[in-house]
Amino acid sequence: MARKFFVGGNWKCNGTTEEVKKIVTTLNEAEVPSEDVVEVVVSPPFVFLSFVKSLLRSDFHVAAQNCWVRKGGAFTGEISAEMLVNLSIPWVIIGHSERRALLKESNEFVGDKVAYALSQGLKVIACIGETLEERESGSTMAVVAAQTKAIADKVTNWDNVVLAYEPVWAIGTGKVATPAQAQEVHRELRKWLSENVSGDIAESTRIIYGGSVNGANCKELAAQPDVDGFLVGGASLKPEFVDIIKYKN
Ligand code: G3P
Repeated sequence: MARKFFVGGNWKCNGTTEEVKKIVTTLNEAEVPSEDVVEVVVSPPFVFLSFVKSLLRSDFHVAAQNCWVRKGGAFTGEISAEMLVNLSIPWVIIGHSERRALLKESNEFVGDKVAYALSQGLKVIACIGETLEERESGSTMAVVAAQTKAIADKVTNWDNVVLAYEPVWAIGTGKVATPAQAQEVHRELRKWLSENVSGDIAESTRIIYGGSVNGANCKELAAQPDVDGFLVGGASLKPEFVDIIKYKN
């Protein structure tokens, strides 16, 4: 089956009102393939989420960069899945390596978050990826399989899950994975899904790549059979994000 190409833009902890307006204007003016061909989701910081949603063209969508693991309440500083649904925010990024590293989010905690977000009707970009040390020790697949298992153990419906493979050593470093490196892990992840979830889900689930993607390297990466799109950080704050979206032209 054909998997719709997915291009996500993770703005991380960046932006001012003026900068956000400039990015949205560039996106709104871009001539890009229809959303039948490429699904575009941008993820501003929480404080700009509704603002961006109110200005953004209707064929592009927004994602929160995280949400809490259960119903809201006495969890100071957290944003609940219910709040995102209330604001008609359709997507959420969960398990980003920066949160796994800085906030010590465990595989199980990420799995619980993915399940709860899905249960509230959100669509989830679930992030996995190994560190340089793990890759150099030859444990890449063991690590990403364990991260994926922690999600699969809690997810019953994969229709609204996009899996983002983001090797930590490629995030923000300019050291993008080679097409062969990305394809190898994506292929093995799809095989893992086939063997541990189902063949249909393995075939239908989009597995996207993140880590130093830009307008120059996106074409070779996207040409890989198991690379179904991107989760873009730094380049999503620049006009070249449009080049990445247009790749499928
Ligand atoms: O979530 C995407 C992000 O981690 C990739 O960042 O700047 O390497 O494209 P960057």
